[in-house]
Order: sequence, then structure tokens, then C-alpha cells
Amino acid sequence: MEPSLSRDAALERGLLIMGNGCRIAPTVRIIPTEDDGREFGPVEIGQGSIIRDGVILSTGVCIGCRVIVGHNSVLRRSVRIGDDSVISHLVSIQHDVSLGSRVRISSLTHLTGGSLVEDNVQIGAGVATVDDNAMEWPQPKMLRGPVFRQGCRIGSGVTVLGDLEIGRNTLIGAGSVVTRTIPENVVAFGNPAYVQRDRPPESS
Ligand SMILES: CC(C)(COP(=O)(O)OP(=O)(O)OC[C@H]1O[C@@H](n2cnc3c(N)ncnc32)[C@H](O)[C@@H]1OP(=O)(O)O)[C@@H](O)C(=O)NCCC(=O)NCCS
Repeated sequence: MEPSLSRDAALERGLLIMGNGCRIAPTVRIIPTEDDGREFGPVEIGQGSIIRDGVILSTGVCIGCRVIVGHNSVLRRSVRIGDDSVISHLVSIQHDVSLGSRVRISSLTHLTGGSLVEDNVQIGAGVATVDDNAMEWPQPKMLRGPVFRQGCRIGSGVTVLGDLEIGRNTLIGAGSVVTRTIPENVVAFGNPAYVQRDRPPESS
């Protein structure tokens, strides 16, 4: 395993590629390889994006244009973030998570490996997602993060189990525990979360 690199060392070695007008704080660290030595390509950051102090970006991370990543957030290998998204402070995004465009994620949220977040999704603060429902670490039989369909809204403090989907334009109320797939265009909340009412499609 190679030690992490400073912004300037990564730029010099071609392991960080920045578009025009990017602002990347000098304290940002780049992790060039996984613990087992695998590399997934340079970190790429599109035009006009802002990466704030203390952010950690692993090999193969790809960030679009005009994205903001807040202080001390961690993006693991091969994370992808679409244009005009905002990731707040202290957000943890695990390997291979893919975020669409105009996604908003608030502080202290954890997106587990392989989660998919489509365009225009809003995720509140302190949301926990799960990819190993049976808790079989270190030898899990199935790892599958949740899927967040276009325009859905996840309230603060929600827990979302793995291997399920939150439907398009659906809103999950604060503090809920989502244990099964929730259809599109509804408001759901509770522990476990149940559909409470419809949500008009034009809401998001
Ligand atoms: C779910 C929500 C959208 C309200 O939905 P609603 O259908 O308009 O519900 P109401 O406010 O009319 O409340 C209806 C009932 O559900 C209860 N309720 C509302 N939200 C709830 C929730 N998240 N969990 C459990 N019960 C909830 C209310 O207390 C009320 O109960 P009562 O009938 O016994 O008085 C809202 O409460 C919510 O949770 N929003 C998320 C906000 C958030 O986390 N934003 C993050 C920004 S970073």
C-alpha cells in the first residue's frame, strides 16, 4: 500500500486531473492504491468543482463539474459524482457508489459500497445505508447497497437496509427504518417504514 499523497504530489505524478477553475484545498489527500495495491486510475475532477479541507479521495474517484465536497468527507475507490451535486461535511461514500447529477447529501451520512443514487436525489443528515443485511462480515454472502431512484428524498436520521429500492419521487420521513422496497410517488415513514400517502409526481 502506498501512503496517501498531497494534492500537489498527486498533480505532479498525474494521479490528480483537475478541470478549469477547480478549487482543491491544499490539505486534500489522494490515496493512489487500495490496501492490496490495486489502482483504479487517477482522481478526476471536472470544471469549477470545489473540494474543501480534509477531504480524502481514493484511486479512480471521478467528480463532475461544479460539484462541492465539504470538509473532511471521504470518497473511496471508484466513486462517481455527477455535475452540480453538493456533498456536505463528514460524508462517507464507500467504494463504487455512483451519484447522478444535482444530488444533495447532508452531513454525517454514510453511503455503503455499491449504492446507486440517481439524479436530483436529496439525502438528509445522518442517514445510514447498509449492504450486508445478514451482518456476515468478514465473509458476507451477499453485498448489495440500496438504489435511490430519481428525485427521491430521504429525511434525516433514516436507516436504509441493502438490496432494496426507494422509488422515483418518493419521500422517506425523518428517522424511519426502510426494510423493503418503497414504490414511486409516495410518502413513507416509521419503523419499519410504511407507505402513508401518495406524493404528487411534480413534487421534485
Ligand atoms: C414525513 C413528513 C414529510 C411529513 O409527512 P406528512 O404526511 O405531511 O405528515 P404530517 O406532518 O401530516 O403528520 C402526520 C402524522 O405522521 C406523524 N409523522 C410525521 N413525520 C413522521 C416521521 N418522520 N416519523 C414518524 N411519524 C411521523 C406525525 O406526528 C403525525 O402523527 P399524528 O397523526 O399522530 O399527529 C415529515 O414529517 C418528515 O419527516 N420530513 C423529513 C424532513 C427532513 O428530514 N429533512 C432533511 C433536510 S436535511
